[in-house]
Amino acid sequence: MVWTGVSRRGATWGTALLAAVAVTAAGCARTDGGADVGRDSGVVHVVCGATEDWCAATTKKFTESTGVKADFVRLSSGEALARIKAGKGSTEFDVWYGGPADGYAAAGDEGLLEPYVSPNATVIPAEYRDPAGYWTGVYVGALGFCSNTKLLAEKGIDVPDSWADLLDPKLSKDIGIAHPSTSGTAYTALWTQVTLAGGDQGKALEYMRKLHPNVLQYTKSGSAPGQMTARGEVAVGLIFSHDCVATIEAGFPDLKVSFPSEGTGYETGGVALVKNAKNATSGRKFIDWALTTEAQEIGPSVKAYQFPTNPNAKVSDKVVKLADLTLVKYDAVEAGRAKLALNKRFDVEVAQAPKS
Ligand code: F6P
Repeated sequence: MVWTGVSRRGATWGTALLAAVAVTAAGCARTDGGADVGRDSGVVHVVCGATEDWCAATTKKFTESTGVKADFVRLSSGEALARIKAGKGSTEFDVWYGGPADGYAAAGDEGLLEPYVSPNATVIPAEYRDPAGYWTGVYVGALGFCSNTKLLAEKGIDVPDSWADLLDPKLSKDIGIAHPSTSGTAYTALWTQVTLAGGDQGKALEYMRKLHPNVLQYTKSGSAPGQMTARGEVAVGLIFSHDCVATIEAGFPDLKVSFPSEGTGYETGGVALVKNAKNATSGRKFIDWALTTEAQEIGPSVKAYQFPTNPNAKVSDKVVKLADLTLVKYDAVEAGRAKLALNKRFDVEVAQAPKS
């Protein structure tokens, strides 16, 4: 576990101290959306789906700005969902931050989230907010291809710019992608196929089966294929384009980002309050703050180039211009509703999830 601001041990003494205060102020304890303010320890436990560096920088800055402590555990989307579900009844997390909104939609459907519409959400465009109030978008990222141009040149293959290009037999075992059961990135890729197939999940799985011989490995985390591509283990990684930009910046200038001409999928990275959160008041503060320009301008300082959902936040010129892309119509709520069953089908009909 990585922590910033306060460790889980710190949380324990903090909890004790604030519990004492809460006892004194017991008459003032307030129930707000099912969460008892009286037991709030003043520490937000965040399950974080963005990059480790972004999670660390964000929780640190939150504490500096608000005085409320925060720690985090970085988990890929499917893993975060499974962990929140496993903790149902006595959750270890207060807030889920980062990772595609379809995971949040699935969690909302399963009764794992507490609806919370922050007063700061009014500024966020409606397309990046859950109509049911379970989650609010904090960033947007587009799915793309991350190619090792040297490797592709050696094989005599052009940089792919269509989904069909990825099926080229010359790319046998030369593609890296995560598994949709664990990774929100890979589920975005899978649901993108569903949208391209006019909603036909069978056809989407058929595409993934055709792609399968070209896949070297299904990783757990969505960004891992970017590093595999950089190391030359595969020629193409199917990842969020900002993760490829970050890998290029980390010292791999031979990588190139491209997008499929048929249309690509995108994520709305979410933030939400976990149901029965022990630190719900502090959790709401975190959500309020996550929607501010201060929070949404942190990304580029840690090589995270997603598009901020707050229209007043500065946008780095390294962020992909969404208007220049052909985007599919990606409905995170619908994608979330289908997520568990579709991933089960993927496990059975395409490939098993990686073992932990
Ligand atoms: O690396 C950052 C990021 O791509 C986020 O934009 C995205 O929400 C998240 O990772 C998805 O991670 P995973 O695919 O591991 O669930």
